[in-house]
Amino acid sequence: MRILIGSYSISDTCMRTHVDFLVIGSGIAGLTYALKVAEHGKVCIVTKKKIDDTATSYAMGGIAAVMYTPDSYEKHIQDTITAGDGLCNEEVVRLTITESTDRIKELITWGAKFDKTQSGRYHLSKEGGHSEHRVLHHKDSTGKEIEDTLIDQIRKHQNIEILENHYAIDILTEHHLGVEVNIRTADVTCFGAYVLNPKTRLVDTILAKSTLVATGGAGNIYSNTTNPTIATGDGIAMVYRARGVIENMEFVQFHPTALYNPKERPSFLITEAIRGFGGILKTFDGKEFMHKYDERLSLAFRDIVARAIDNELKISGEDYVYLDCRHLDRNELIRQFPRIYAKCLSLGIDISRDMIPVVPAAHYICGGIKTNEFGQSTVRNLYSSGECASTGMHGANRLASNSLLESVVFSHRASEHAISRVGSIDFCNAIPDWDAEGMVLTEEMILITQSQKELQAIMSSYVGIVRSNLRLQRAIDRLVLLYEEAEDLYNKSILTPRICELRNMINVAYLVIKQAIAQKENRGLHYSLDYSTTRN
Ligand code: SIN
Repeated sequence: MRILIGSYSISDTCMRTHVDFLVIGSGIAGLTYALKVAEHGKVCIVTKKKIDDTATSYAMGGIAAVMYTPDSYEKHIQDTITAGDGLCNEEVVRLTITESTDRIKELITWGAKFDKTQSGRYHLSKEGGHSEHRVLHHKDSTGKEIEDTLIDQIRKHQNIEILENHYAIDILTEHHLGVEVNIRTADVTCFGAYVLNPKTRLVDTILAKSTLVATGGAGNIYSNTTNPTIATGDGIAMVYRARGVIENMEFVQFHPTALYNPKERPSFLITEAIRGFGGILKTFDGKEFMHKYDERLSLAFRDIVARAIDNELKISGEDYVYLDCRHLDRNELIRQFPRIYAKCLSLGIDISRDMIPVVPAAHYICGGIKTNEFGQSTVRNLYSSGECASTGMHGANRLASNSLLESVVFSHRASEHAISRVGSIDFCNAIPDWDAEGMVLTEEMILITQSQKELQAIMSSYVGIVRSNLRLQRAIDRLVLLYEEAEDLYNKSILTPRICELRNMINVAYLVIKQAIAQKENRGLHYSLDYSTTRN
């Protein structure tokens, strides 16, 4: 028997629902896309925690955009390409940056507030690798301002249903119809997703004409990360299992300045904008060191600064370096960075009088689900945007504050493309319900937490800022055992988000290591002791 409740039908097993547009993830990429496609059909947003529990909410520095002369699109384009160390797709960089102004205006129209100077112009910060001040921000809480603004808009929209605490397990493809997919041609279509329902603990089937994967990054494959705990690479792993193309995963960006506070997870970010404001990196014994590595000093590209800090820590044997802001205007420092000031003060550090202890931490994955200029993945009817996507914008190293920008541009492009196609797509009703036959609830959380810690240790020790062929081989050898154990657990257990996350993190770690092994030169964020470097 099936009972209809809203768009759902409940059977004695699990629910099936039909939507025009399925959005997996509720950060800036998912929400801006949802607002646009909702004008053309029914939308369901699936998000694994609360709607605002996203990496977007954590973004401090801001959103890079060309606002006034002497800045120009061309300068921003060249900075992005130089940061990407020769691996950006120039066409994608050009279209993203030239379309930025319209997308920023849209955020402002939706209600996002960016700081202004007394003259009424937008206050623009500067971050590493930018030749001009061009980062729009809301104090040091830009992401939260944008996320809250978008959620307000989303909640007002009649066509949008939000499923919080729902966990997308896998995207639905021909594979679920029992059709063998040829690995080489990988001709695959997305029909929606299987989603774990927290109330029933059953797996529901959401059939969709068009699906956007916007699940963010995977920083939690490392021991130290600025990413929230939700960043477990779910979307990348799902699309990989569905045979979609995943690329550039070796380019993992470590943010040079996370607050050194070993017990805290995620690591608290000390925004690069504070170096743009004049903060200077110093060793444990208070000496400047960036002049040894790059003429742009503390504002060199992130890969260069992170490697420099890593090297200084290896030389000194200490656990952290310092960021010194003591020489800066106290009032202005506190006015522009109130969140950092309050956080450090809560730990007994007054940033206007004390140096801030900092270390690099995993921050952003430049690669991910390969998409074209319309955000289309290699899987039919499946789009991707945000950190989980690889659009070609970032190449081998992302320029600071380019990611929120990339998200709004590509979600816009993907929305237009999906809207133009949705009318010609039918639901795939032949997709069966999830089969939970023979699965038992695993009581042993220790199996999951311990495997996760082992994974993070492997990635941090062997696949971090500095790599080598030997370290990468050791990483893959160790990962194989974790993979086999996790698959075994997954196949036998009644599903929980923790089991699924572990499986996804192992899949993503595998992709990072494999693609790092395949990268035979030092480029941007991939640095191996076995190759020489030519970075400019
Ligand atoms: C920061 O504020 O330093 C982070 C900005 C970014 O990663 O784009």
